[in-house]
Amino acid sequence: MITGRAKLAGVMGDPVSHSLSPKLHNHWIAKAGLDAVYVPLHVKPEQLEETFGLLPRLGFRGWNVTVPHKEAALSLVGETDEAARIIGAVNTVVVKENGALVGRNTDALGFINNVEAQIKRLAPYKTQAVVLGAGGAARAVCYALKIAEFKHITVLNRTRDRADALAKAMNISSAAWEEAPRLFADATFIINTTTQGMEGQPPLMAPFEALPKTALVADIVYRPLQTALLKQAHAQGCTTVTGLGMLIHQAVPGFKAWFGVEPEITPALEKMLLA
Ligand code: ATR
Repeated sequence: MITGRAKLAGVMGDPVSHSLSPKLHNHWIAKAGLDAVYVPLHVKPEQLEETFGLLPRLGFRGWNVTVPHKEAALSLVGETDEAARIIGAVNTVVVKENGALVGRNTDALGFINNVEAQIKRLAPYKTQAVVLGAGGAARAVCYALKIAEFKHITVLNRTRDRADALAKAMNISSAAWEEAPRLFADATFIINTTTQGMEGQPPLMAPFEALPKTALVADIVYRPLQTALLKQAHAQGCTTVTGLGMLIHQAVPGFKAWFGVEPEITPALEKMLLA
């Protein structure tokens, strides 16, 4: 039941209609029996600043920020956490009692918590990580691997310049796409952060046959849940990690901050989101 006192939150994007976040948060709201609602907010880039000013005055507790606003949001909040500053993007905004905005980035935490939820121990995989892609998602994943104290992290991207820039910013390594077979052969953890393999896109083309079966393979693409990469890795004997949990886990800190309740992550939740 939504009353006149309902707590408000939402997700800002352009477009926003594809977002699974309303389904996810409203599921948690219903489970916890809260007087609250989480709404999709279709905000164009030119309306972003104005909307950031308006929502706290309308009583919003906070909101998520998605494509293409994550980077622009950084300059529209008063305070940021370390993750947001290093990743260079905000995905979660919390409105403080005095109306001030705190910008956080929970994508890295979401990534690592999802991996740890799906495998028993991460420790054996912390030697040689290879990150495929160099966009915003790759930045969050690289930051997560650094925080988790991986020994060596190498970024591999179709466009070498972007890999070099990311590696420099994060103080990690980069390599040319042609070096993939050698890097894959020594990898203990490989992560696809590119858009390849997503529904409507071709699978990511790379020499995955070079991966040893001791490697852990993660895809942040979750439509479909079992991407061509994960299927191939599984067939080769590798342990695999699916991507939908990252979306679920990154949502937890925002929900807690806005509504004061720890949401529950269950297998049924993943099924509901996939349906
Ligand atoms: P996001 O911010 O969501 O990570 P992005 O910045 O558009 O998205 O990054 C998409 C990533 O997928 C990039 O690393 C991109 O490689 P380029 O920098 O060379 O464009 C990668 N990507 C997209 N299509 C690709 C393809 N066909 N093969 C390999 N990588 C691809």
